[in-house]
Amino acid sequence: MQDLDLTIRNGTIATAADTFSGDLGVKDGRIAVLARGLAPGKRDIDASGKLVLPGGVDSHCHIEQLSSNGVMTADDFYTGTVSAVHGGTTTIVPFAAQHRGMKIKDVVADYSKRAAEKAVIDYGFHLILADPTEEVLTQELPEYIGKGITSFKVYMTYDLLKIDDYQMLDVLLAAEKHGALVMVHAENHDVIRWLAKRLLDRGHTEPKFHAVSHAPLAESEAANRVIQFSRLLDVPVLIVHVSGAESVRAIQAARALGARVYAETCPQYLFLKGSDISRPGMEGAKYCCSPPPRDEASQNALWAGLADGTFQVFSSDHAPYRFDASGKLPKGEKTSFKEIANGVPGLELRMPLLFSEGVGKGRISLNEFVALTATNHARIYGMYPRKGTIAVGSDADVGVWDPDKETKITAAAIHDNVGYTPYEGRTIKGWPEIVVSRGRVVVENGKLSAEKGSGKFVRCGAPEPLKHERKPTTEMRLFKALIS
Ligand code: URP
Ligand code: ZN
Ligand code: ZN
Repeated sequence: MQDLDLTIRNGTIATAADTFSGDLGVKDGRIAVLARGLAPGKRDIDASGKLVLPGGVDSHCHIEQLSSNGVMTADDFYTGTVSAVHGGTTTIVPFAAQHRGMKIKDVVADYSKRAAEKAVIDYGFHLILADPTEEVLTQELPEYIGKGITSFKVYMTYDLLKIDDYQMLDVLLAAEKHGALVMVHAENHDVIRWLAKRLLDRGHTEPKFHAVSHAPLAESEAANRVIQFSRLLDVPVLIVHVSGAESVRAIQAARALGARVYAETCPQYLFLKGSDISRPGMEGAKYCCSPPPRDEASQNALWAGLADGTFQVFSSDHAPYRFDASGKLPKGEKTSFKEIANGVPGLELRMPLLFSEGVGKGRISLNEFVALTATNHARIYGMYPRKGTIAVGSDADVGVWDPDKETKITAAAIHDNVGYTPYEGRTIKGWPEIVVSRGRVVVENGKLSAEKGSGKFVRCGAPEPLKHERKPTTEMRLFKALIS
C-alpha cells in the first residue's frame, strides 16, 4: 500500500448512491483508496461514530459582488469561503457579474483576480448576463465556456438586470449551442413594480410589503414562461431559488410534458416564513430576499419536492448585506421596502440546517442530502466526479460530521461578515467537525488552517443531461435546424 498523506478511518461513508462503513485514504490531494482495515496514513482521523460525506458544493452564492444598485456584498472571497468551509462546503460557484455595458473579459478578469488572492477553498464561476449583446452571445460566451465558465444567470426582474423575452430566447439558444446552462431568476417584473408602486403610493413602506409585491403568482408565471420557452427550443433551463408551492407545481407540470427543467431551492424557503419578514419596525428587512419566504404550505411543497426529485440542488443564494446603511438599510429607518438590499446569508448554515431538519427529522435520506448539497451541483455544472463525491480519483473534499452534535445558532459564532443570521437562536443537530479540502484539513473543531488564496479555480464542463431525457423528435430537429 502506498504511503498515504491522510486517512479517515472507521467512519460511515455516504455518497449520493451508497452508504458503507470503511476507511478513506488520501494521496496528493485526491482520494487514493476506499477500503476496510487501512493502515494509518501520515495524518490519521478516527471517524468512529461519525459520517464521512463529500464536501458540499454551493452553486448559488454572491461573493464580493456589486449589486445593480451599486451595493457591495458584505463578504469577500476570504470571509465568504472561510464561512462556507466551516459549514462543510468545500467548493463554491459564485457569480462574475456583468452589468450593462461591461465586457465579459473585464468582468471575468476582475473576479478571477479577487478570488485567486483570497479564496481558501476551490471555486468555479457562473456569469451573470445583464447585457447579452450579439457580441457577447456569439464571441465572448463561447470563449469563456471553453475556459470553464459554462453556466450563466439571467434575470426576469430588477430594473438594471432584467432581460426581455426576446433576449431570453436568444440566450437559451446560444447557451445550448455552446454547451452551457442558463439559470433563471424567474419573477414577473411588471407585476412586482406595479404592485410596489401602488403600495408605496398608499404609504405602505415597511419591509413586509416586499413580500406583498413579490407575489407568488409573479414567480410562478415567470417560471412557467421561461420553462415554456425552454420547451419551445427543447433546451435545458435551471430555475433558481424556487420559493413556493405554485412554482413547484409549474415545474412539475412542465416536466411531465418533457420540459428539460432543473430546479433549485434554498434554506430561506424551508426555514423562514412570511411572518419573519413581517416582524415589526425594520427587523423584517433581515429576511428580505427575492423571491421572499412564503407560507407553511409552500414549505411543505418544497420538502416534498426535495424528497421526490423535483429539486436537484439545494443552494444558499448567500447574498450577504449588513443590517446597516452599508447594506440592507441605505436610508436607515426610512428605507422603504423597495430600497432594502435583497438577499440573506446562508453559506455556512446551508448544509447543517438541511442535515438537521431534513436527514435528522426523516424528511430526506442521507444519500438525498449528499445529492442535494454536493453531487448534483457537481453533475449539473460539469465538475463531476472531480467534485461532489467520494470516489477513488476525486479531489479529497470531505466533511467528517458528528450527527449528534447540537449547536445553538448565533451570529457571533458564524464566520461570515454579515453581523446577523436570520436563523438566530435555533438549535440544530449535526455538524461537520472536520473539513478537508483537496486533502488539507482546513477546519478542525472550529479552527481554520488554510492560507488566504489557497483555493483553486475549477473549470466547469457541460451540464450532464437530466435523467431519462428523451431524444429530440425529428420535427424538433428540423425546427432547430431552421432557426439555428
Ligand atoms: O434576494 C436575493 N436573492 N438577492 C440576491 C440576488 C439574486 O436575486 O440572486
Ligand atoms: Zn436571483
Ligand atoms: Zn442569487
